Amino acid sequence: MSDSLIPDLTPRPEAPANGGDRSVYVETYGCQMNSYDSQVILDRLRAAGFRTVDDHLAADLVLLNTCSVRELAEHKVISRVGEIRHQRREAGVEPAVMGVVGCMAERMGKQLLKGRNRVDLVVGVDHYDDLASLVNDVMGPAHARSAMSVGHDQSVHYVAPPALYPTNNSHLVTIHKGCDYRCTYCIVPYTRGPQVEKHPDLILTEIQAILDAGGHEVTLLGQNVTAYRWQGGELDFAGLLRLVSPLPGLERIRFLTGHPHDMRPHLIDTIADLPNVCPWLHVPAQSGSDEILKRMKRRYRRDDYLAMVAHARRVMPDVSFNGDFIVGFPGETEADFEQTLELVREVRYDTIFAFKYSERPGAPAAELDDDVSTDDKKRRLAALLAVQEEIWAEVAAEVVGTEVMAVVEEPARRPAGHWRLRTANNRKIVVDLPDGAPGQQHRLTITGWQNTSFFGEVTRS
Ligand code: SAH
Ligand code: SF4
Ligand code: F3S
Repeated sequence: MSDSLIPDLTPRPEAPANGGDRSVYVETYGCQMNSYDSQVILDRLRAAGFRTVDDHLAADLVLLNTCSVRELAEHKVISRVGEIRHQRREAGVEPAVMGVVGCMAERMGKQLLKGRNRVDLVVGVDHYDDLASLVNDVMGPAHARSAMSVGHDQSVHYVAPPALYPTNNSHLVTIHKGCDYRCTYCIVPYTRGPQVEKHPDLILTEIQAILDAGGHEVTLLGQNVTAYRWQGGELDFAGLLRLVSPLPGLERIRFLTGHPHDMRPHLIDTIADLPNVCPWLHVPAQSGSDEILKRMKRRYRRDDYLAMVAHARRVMPDVSFNGDFIVGFPGETEADFEQTLELVREVRYDTIFAFKYSERPGAPAAELDDDVSTDDKKRRLAALLAVQEEIWAEVAAEVVGTEVMAVVEEPARRPAGHWRLRTANNRKIVVDLPDGAPGQQHRLTITGWQNTSFFGEVTRS
C-alpha cells in the first residue's frame, strides 16, 4: 500500500448546529457499516446547511442507505421509494428529492434512475464527501434531472463525528472497508470494493475523539475485521487491538465481523490477554458441511471452526458466540444441512442469524444452479432456528442464578423504571434500577430469562 493512500489526518471542524433551512431524512438498511456511514452522511449534509429530521414527511431530501446482500432487501427498498412518494401525495406534501445511497447504488447504478420507482440521486459508498454538491445539482438553481456518483475510490476513508451518536455507550469505528475474500455467495466485495485499511493513526485519533466526547466503548467495524493488515502485514488485527487497548478511559472494545479463517490462536490469545477486549465473538460459520464450505470458498473446514471455538473457550471460559448461516446454498443436500444442525448443537451459540440463500447477480455462485427449492429452504431455515431455540433455552437456563458484571446502556422499553444492561460477553439484562444512568456498572444476579434477554437484580454485598 503506498503512502498516497494515507488519509488526511487533519481534524475536521465541528458540524454546525442542526439549523439549516433545508431538511434531510435518512433511512438506513443493512449492516453496521451503513449505520456508521449514515452518521457520516448526516454530518456532511449538516455542514452543508441541512437540518436532520426523523420523519420523511418533514424532509426536502430523502435518502435510503441501502443493502444488496439479499434480493429481498433490494426489493424492499424499491417498493419503499414508491411508498414514500405515495405517503407524501396522500399527506398533501410536496414531492421530495429522493436518493439511493450505499450498496444498491454501487450494484445497480443507473438502473435506479429509471422505471416507475426511479430516484433522483444515486451515490455510492465512496462518494459521501461529494454528496452535498450532488444534492445541489438537483435541488439548486441548475435543477438537473438526476445526479449519480459511484465506483470505488481507495483513498476515501470516513470518520463519523462522535457527537452525533445516539448514546455515549458504544461507538462504531470502521477500521477498513471492502473485502478481498470473495466468498462465492457474497456481493459485498463488489458493492464495497477491495479491502482498504484505515491508517492506524486515524483509528487512534478517531477513538481518542470518542473518549474526549465522553465515550467509553467502541465497536471496531468492518466486513472482515480480522483480516486487517496495515502495510501488508506490518500490523495485523491482533497488533491493532494491542495498539488501541491501552487508550486511557477505553473500557470495552468489541469488533464485527470476524472471519473464522483469521481467528487463529495468536489472535484469540490476544483477545483473552487484553482486559478491555470483550469475550464475544461474532464468527459466521455459514455451513457445517465441508463440501458446502468448499463451494462457498470459506477457507476453513468444519473441524478448523470447532477447534477455533474450543481454543477460545479454553482461554476465555466466559466467551460467547454469534454466528451467521446460509441454508439452501446450491447443491446443499439434507445430509449437508444435518451437519449444520450438528455444528449449531456443538457450538452452543448465544444468537444466530440464519438466511435462505439468495442468488446475487455478479457473485460467483450465481453461476451455480440454485437448485434447492424455496420450500426446502424455508423448511431448513425453520428447522435451524428451532434447534437454536432449543440450545439457547439450555444455555440461558445455565446462566440463571449466576453473578455477572454489566454496564447500563439505556432504559428498557418495559417495565417502567427498568434499564437494559449488557455484559462483556454481550448478554442483555433488564434490571429495576431507580437511579440508573448509562455507563454505570453493576454486579447482578441473574433471576430469569425471556427470548434473548435476561432479568437480574443488583447483588447485595
Ligand atoms: N462479512 C461477514 C458477513 C457479510 S454479509 C462475513 O464474512 O461473514 C452478512 C451475512 O449475510 C453473511 O454472514 C451471510 O450469512 C449472509 N449472506 C451473505 N450473502 C448472502 C446471500 N447471497 N444469500 C443469503 N445470505 C447471505
Ligand atoms: Fe462477504 Fe465473505 Fe467478505 Fe464476508 S468475508 S464480506 S461473507 S466475501
Ligand atoms: Fe449490505 Fe452492503 Fe452491509 S451489501 S451487509 S449494507 S456492506
